[in-house]
Amino acid sequence: MSRKPFIAGNWKMNKTIDEGIALVNELKPLVAGIDNVDIAVCPTFVALAKVGDAIKGSNITIGGQNTFWKESGAWTSQVSPKFLVDAGCKWVIIGHSETRGRFGTVDDELGKVLDYFGEKDVTVNMKAKFAFENGLIPIIACGEMLAEREAGKTDEVIAAQMKTDLAGFTKDQAMKMVIAYEPVWAIGTGKTCDSDEADRVCGLIRGIVKEMYGADVADAVRIQYGGSMNEKNAAELLGKPNIDGGLVGGAALVAEKFATIIKSAK
Ligand code: PGA
Repeated sequence: MSRKPFIAGNWKMNKTIDEGIALVNELKPLVAGIDNVDIAVCPTFVALAKVGDAIKGSNITIGGQNTFWKESGAWTSQVSPKFLVDAGCKWVIIGHSETRGRFGTVDDELGKVLDYFGEKDVTVNMKAKFAFENGLIPIIACGEMLAEREAGKTDEVIAAQMKTDLAGFTKDQAMKMVIAYEPVWAIGTGKTCDSDEADRVCGLIRGIVKEMYGADVADAVRIQYGGSMNEKNAAELLGKPNIDGGLVGGAALVAEKFATIIKSAK
């Protein structure tokens, strides 16, 4: 089965409203007419609605960078999937390593914050289910930290994340979900994962999906690679059998680079 490539730009905490609009206005003509790749940008919550207006009528879609598992109420700072749909979103990133908490809050000795937003596999799963219920498609991110890779624990870490993150979806939801394999040590560092190794881990993830939801779902589900994907290395990564797209940070902030990545996926 051929899976339609999906390239999503994760803008993280970058771009004001005006800068976001300018970026998509620059991107639109560069990717006009491309209909064999799904294209998304994920601006900050603040810029979503306006960027959503700016992409109307184009082949670019938008997504949120996080969400919550409640519809409304006394949850200061949280963003319901209903609000994301209202702003025009089709997608939402869930479980990005920058929102996951893995090792407690602060390393006192290093004086370093290790756990920014405290997201756990269980809450990743709750958010993904609630996103689905509200008509969004989650892009569920997973990935090992450098110490885990060096200790030979990559496969075990990924399997543990996936088994909880992906639990309990309906078959229809599982068919639609998007998974992003993002080795944490490759994010924003310029150290891309070797393409064969990225493909191997994406294949491992597909195997876990097969165990959980069957061969037809495993065959349909799109698995992106993320971590220093750029206009130079994208074609090689996207040429691998188990890599169906990219979740792109830094290179998605420059229209020409992002467009080149999208074109490499065609
Ligand atoms: P990067 O970020 O492309 O800047 O490494 C990717 C991501 O974190 O989604």
